[in-house]
Formats: sequence, C-alpha cells, structure tokens
Amino acid sequence: NVAQLTLDPAFRIGAIDRRLFGSLVEHMGRCVYTGIFEPGHPAADELGLRTDVLDLARELGVTVVRYPGGNFVSNYRWEDGVGPRETRPTRLDLAWRSIETNQFGLGEYMAWVRRLGAEPMMAVNLGTRGLTEAVELLEYANFPGGTRLSDQRIKNGDTEPYGIGLWCLGNEADGPWQMGHKTAYEYGRLAAETGRAMRRLDPGIELVACGSSGRHMPTFGSWEATVLEQCYDQVDFISMHAYYEEHHGDTDSFLASAVDMDAFIDEVVATADHVKAKLRSPKRLRVSFDEWNVWYQRDWHGEAALEWRQAPRLIEDDYSEIDAVVVGTYLISLLGHADRVGIACQAQLANVIAPIRTEPGGPARKQTTFHPFAHMAGLARGDALRVEPVTHQINTDAYGPVPALTAAASHDPATGAVVLFAVNRDRTAPIALDLDLRGFNGAQLRTHRLLHGERATRPGQVTVELPPASWNVLEFS
Ligand code: AHR
Repeated sequence: NVAQLTLDPAFRIGAIDRRLFGSLVEHMGRCVYTGIFEPGHPAADELGLRTDVLDLARELGVTVVRYPGGNFVSNYRWEDGVGPRETRPTRLDLAWRSIETNQFGLGEYMAWVRRLGAEPMMAVNLGTRGLTEAVELLEYANFPGGTRLSDQRIKNGDTEPYGIGLWCLGNEADGPWQMGHKTAYEYGRLAAETGRAMRRLDPGIELVACGSSGRHMPTFGSWEATVLEQCYDQVDFISMHAYYEEHHGDTDSFLASAVDMDAFIDEVVATADHVKAKLRSPKRLRVSFDEWNVWYQRDWHGEAALEWRQAPRLIEDDYSEIDAVVVGTYLISLLGHADRVGIACQAQLANVIAPIRTEPGGPARKQTTFHPFAHMAGLARGDALRVEPVTHQINTDAYGPVPALTAAASHDPATGAVVLFAVNRDRTAPIALDLDLRGFNGAQLRTHRLLHGERATRPGQVTVELPPASWNVLEFS
C-alpha cells in the first residue's frame, strides 16, 4: 500500500498549547498512595514523594497535572488535606469506596507539581459542596496573606501563594454515578455563580466547565448547550472525557477509535460555537480534554462492588503494543485539533490506567503507552500543521471505512524543526509513505522512531515504510 502526504508551513492549524500534554492525578486506587507518594520508600524525598516516579513523569513530559479528581473531588473536603499530617482526618471516599487518610493534600500536590516543573490544574468540589468552599480553597491557595485562610497556608509552611491559574468547576456533573450529580441547568447555574465569585477573588484564573462524561451519554449535546447558556461568560474551557477499549477482539475497530474522538471534538466545538452565536459573545471557548485514555471497562464491576480499603489496586490495566498505537492515534487527534483543544490530560498518571506503574516499596516502570506520549510531548512545539494523507481505507465494524494512515505534524518556527506523528492502522501490511516537503526548502528526514527504537534513514529519503499497526515519529530539519 502506498500513501502520500504533504507538509507545508502554510497549512497551519494553530499554535500548540503545551498544556495538551497533561495528566490526571486522582485520589483513586494507587495513583497517589504508593504511586507518586510513598513515605518510607527508598526513593522517597523528605515529603514522601517518590523521586523515581517524578523522574519518569519528567521523562514522560507532562506539562499540566489535574488534581484531586476525577470522581473523588465531588465528595472531597480540601481542608482535610492541609496542616500537620498527624491531625488530618481519615475519611470515607464515597466515589471509590476507599479509606482516605489525607496524608497527601494540597501542599504535597503543589510541592510535587513544582518539582515536576508542570502547571497545576485544581478541581473544586461542586458535588457535595459549592461556591463558598470553592472560594475558600482559592483564597487559601492564591491570596498572598492577611486573611484567615491565606494565613493558614502560611502557617502550614507555604509563605508564597501557590498562584494556581487553572481551575475545574467540578467533575462529570452529568454522570448519575457522580456524588451530587445535577441536571444541566442546575450545574450550569452553579458553575456560573461559582466562577463569578472565584473570578472576583482572582480575575486572572482560567475556568473549565464540565462537559459530557462521554459521547455516549444520553444527555450529550444538550448538556453542553444548556450548561454553556448559563455559564458561557464565566468560563474559558468546556471539558471532554473519553475512554476506549477493544470490544470482542475487534482490533480493527479499536485501532480506528480515534475517529470517534475526532467527531466528539468537532461536535463539542460546534455546540460551544452555537451558544457563542446565540449569546452574541465575542469569546471563543476552547476544549479541555481533561480525561482520555484506553480503559478496559469490561473488567470493571462498578463502585458498589468495592470493599472499603486504603489505596486498593483499582483498574491497573496492563497495556499491549496495540494499546500504545491506539494511544498514539488519540494524541494525533488532539494535535490535529490544536486550534480548539488547549488542554488535555491523559487519565491517569500512575497505576490507575496509567503509563507509569509502581510496586509498593519496589520499582517504577514504563508501560507501552508511555512512549507515544513521551515522543509527542517532547517534540510537538510551535504550530500544529494540517496534514491530509492520501491513503487506502480499512473496513471496520464500528466505524465503517476508515483511513489506514492517520497523522498530525508540528513545525517550530523558532528552530525550524518539523515532526510528523503517524500511525499505520493496517495490521496486515506496511504503508510506503511518499512525503512532499517542498514547502520546507530542503528539509530532510533525520530520524524515524517507532514505539521502541529507531529505523535507519538515508539522505534525500522521501519514501518511508510504516510497519503494520505501528506508531511512527519522523523528524525533519
Ligand atoms: O479516571 C477514572 C475516572 O473516570 C474519573 O475519576 C472520572 O472522572 C471518570 O469517570
């Protein structure tokens, strides 16, 4: 099979917001406890933060970290996680029927994010709590001092304000599983009033409203429209969440599942723009795709089946090579929508459907899905470029005929670096990809990486072989 593709700096989608390469750290299973935080572990620092996991997260290239949930946030009291550790209460987390010791909280999270060199993204509880507690949390975090809550932060050892700039107004409020689940109108009003009050305190913050928990939700579409009609003026982003898995051994459909992600993004953008038009607003919202990944939910028996435990092993999926290639297609989808998707977080960072796995007291290691993320987070800088591959199609049961080759590209005008990220979805045959780079005056292929390792390249090479079911990174300069 032969395919063609043109790379040209004029085909610019938009600037790449580096926050596309985010992750979620939730108090769920072993993401926090024995994941990123394990006092007493040989690699733990003075706060109990695992430096081996920090090193891997740095290598992964994570730029923004959403915290503390996920579903967990919707019954969380942030005050439980600050102050001397010995005085912090042990509570029941209703989201995951887990025992929460609160030994890790806001201060530890901020220390961890700073050591990582990433941006914080904090979610407030709009499930069992509301406007008052959200504003109190913002005061504790961002107000310099001289008030009860900001002085409490200072007393707890953090004299400088955290300066958290990015805030999620709740989590998956459309989901009946969510503590404090709401109708779109109820949530939209609460998000509007909470956002307004938070902005009064700190006008510089960016706010994310909850969109749908998935494209499959019965309220999808109308949820976004109703929510945004209430809170459009107060927010900067609408969230999206999507998880995919292989069903009944149908690998071809699974390899094609990013077409669903593409359509989902287009529909959310269209709905946000519909509200923009209705409200005559000059503002254009962006998407925060703040949960996405491969998740084998067929192995999940529901929260009600869980026993009350502390840091249980929850959804610790083992990822295959195909899973990693599919993760690559989602990254391609996100980069290809760089004009409208400003933030994205792979869910989650450690142990829970994660690229990093740890053992309590033991080592930390990379899963297969680590690699495509690390490649793109490390290399995609500057502008996202539109690529329109001419390629054969694959017939899939779930999505019909789907292009065998999917790709996205970046061009950094500052360095001249051009990078193409490409997946061959065809499991049966390689693709011979003919590249046209005339717009880049003599740029040459320098490296061709696969999931593991590199392929040899030669000067003047314009045809590249993409192996069956493969993730490929082509660097030009
Ligand atoms: O990432 C796991 C869970 O998936 C999150 O807590 C929730 O927001 C979503 O349903």
